[in-house]
Amino acid sequence: MDNKYVVITGAYGGLGKALAELYAKQNFGLVLMGRKEKELEALKESIQTDIPIHTVVCDVSDWESCKAAYKAVQLKKIAVHTLINNAGITYIQNFNKDYQIDRYQQLIDTNLNGPVYLTHLFLDDLLQHKGSVITLSSVIGYAPVIGRTAYAASKFGLEGFFSVLRAEVADNLHVMMVYPTFIATQIRAQVKGDKTVNEVLTPEEVAQTTFKAHQNKQNKVYIGKTAKLSFYLYKFFPNLYVNLMRKKVNQPT
Ligand SMILES: NC(=O)c1ccc[n+]([C@@H]2O[C@H](COP(=O)([O-])OP(=O)(O)OC[C@H]3O[C@@H](n4cnc5c(N)ncnc54)[C@H](OP(=O)(O)O)[C@@H]3O)[C@@H](O)[C@H]2O)c1
Repeated sequence: MDNKYVVITGAYGGLGKALAELYAKQNFGLVLMGRKEKELEALKESIQTDIPIHTVVCDVSDWESCKAAYKAVQLKKIAVHTLINNAGITYIQNFNKDYQIDRYQQLIDTNLNGPVYLTHLFLDDLLQHKGSVITLSSVIGYAPVIGRTAYAASKFGLEGFFSVLRAEVADNLHVMMVYPTFIATQIRAQVKGDKTVNEVLTPEEVAQTTFKAHQNKQNKVYIGKTAKLSFYLYKFFPNLYVNLMRKKVNQPT
C-alpha cells in the first residue's frame, strides 16, 4: 500500500520530534525538514518504524532553500498529503530603542514567510490528494502578550493568510491552525523566570491533540486551558484580558 506522506518542518525541534514520532506510529510516511542534516539523520535513526522516512535540508526562511527542498521531495515521487508548518522562532523584547530590526526580519521570514513559501510549493500536491496544511500558531495568534510584537505580527499574519486560503480552496484542502499554550521546548529558553507560565504542556500532548484534530478535519484547535480562556477573555472582555496579562507576564526590558 502506498504511504500517505506528511512533511514536517522544524522536525528535530521539541514539537516537531513529537509530531514525527506520532505520525510514524500512525503509519504516515515522513519527510523531515530542518536546517541541520546531522540532526535530521539522528532523528530519522531514532524513530523505530518500518515506514519510509526521508530527510530534506530546508531553511524555511529562504525561498531558494524551500524551492530546492521541494525539488528534492518531487524526485522521491511520493504522495504528500499533509504539510505541517511547525518550524518557528521567538524574539522577546519590548518595542523600544533596543529592538533589533534584523531579529524582527528573521522572525517574520521564518514564522510567516516560511509557511507561505512551502504551502505555495506543495499546494498542487495537497490539492490533488485533498490533503491538509497544518500551521502552528499560538495564543499570540489571537491575543496580545507584551514583549512579543514580532511573534504576534507573524502569528496574526498566518491567521490572515490561512483564513483567506481556506476560503479560496473551500472543499479541496483542509486548512488547520493549531493554537497551543506554552509547551516545554527549547523555544522557551528565551523566557526568563516562570511568572508567565502557570500551564506548560508537553510536546507529546500537543502532538496527540493536533493529530486528533487533523483526523477530525477541524479548522482550528486550541490546546490547553490558557489557550481557551485567553480566547474567550480577549474576545469578550479585551481590556480585562490586557490588564490581567500585563500583571501575569514577565515585563521584558
Ligand atoms: N513552545 C511553546 O511554548 C510554543 C507555544 C505555542 C506555539 N509554538 C509554536 O510551535 C512551533 C514549534 O516550536 P517548538 O516549541 O517545538 O520550538 P523548538 O523546540 O525551538 O523547535 C523549533 C524548530 O524550528 C526550527 N527552525 C528554526 N528556524 C528555522 C528555519 N529558518 N528553517 C527551518 N527550521 C527552522 C529549529 O531548528 P534549528 O535548530 O535549525 O534552529 C527547531 O527544530 C513553532 O511554530 C512555535 O511558534 C510553541
